[in-house]
Amino acid sequence: MDNYVTGAVNRRLRESKKMTQEELAAEIYVSSKAVSKWETGRGFPDISLLEPLSKALGISVIELLSGEDVRNGNRAFNMLREKFYVCPVCGNVIRTTGEAVVSCCGIMLPPQEAESPDDDHQIKTETAEDEYYVTVRHPMIKEHYISFLAAVSDQGTQFVKLYPEGNAEARFKISRVKMIYAFCNRHGLFRIQPERR
Ligand SMILES: [Fe+2]
Repeated sequence: MDNYVTGAVNRRLRESKKMTQEELAAEIYVSSKAVSKWETGRGFPDISLLEPLSKALGISVIELLSGEDVRNGNRAFNMLREKFYVCPVCGNVIRTTGEAVVSCCGIMLPPQEAESPDDDHQIKTETAEDEYYVTVRHPMIKEHYISFLAAVSDQGTQFVKLYPEGNAEARFKISRVKMIYAFCNRHGLFRIQPERR
């Protein structure tokens, strides 16, 4: 595991609960010095403390480990916070809405950060009846290709896996699509907001 409770997270959660180090320490039966050590990166809470610690901080163990409070925001809003995780070893793509701790092939995966397309990754959309026809002019060779296209709406995600030697294209139902994503295995995730019809 390369993710664990960090001092900064511990401090932020404790302060948002308006607890002092002493109060938190008393609640989980450790010394305030121990809490101070965690928060300044000089130590970690023992794994047996994760449950009482998360309880004291009012969040789940998963939230504590990921450093995020996942209960904020409603479902529709979270849909648009679709996140993509790509395993660098096996190429597996994992999608989540909201926060999650994701790992594959023994590696803890960070969510891909989407950027606006640069000149080499322009995402083109044409409208044909009720569909978007999406293309990316980009190499499609084994070493360098667009490995997926996706269209995200507040109702869910349309996802098309692509392969080398294929075409960087996909068709998506237009209905309520808010974002279109393209992932390059070398250059990462790009997204555009398609034009409203
Ligand atoms: Fe690329």
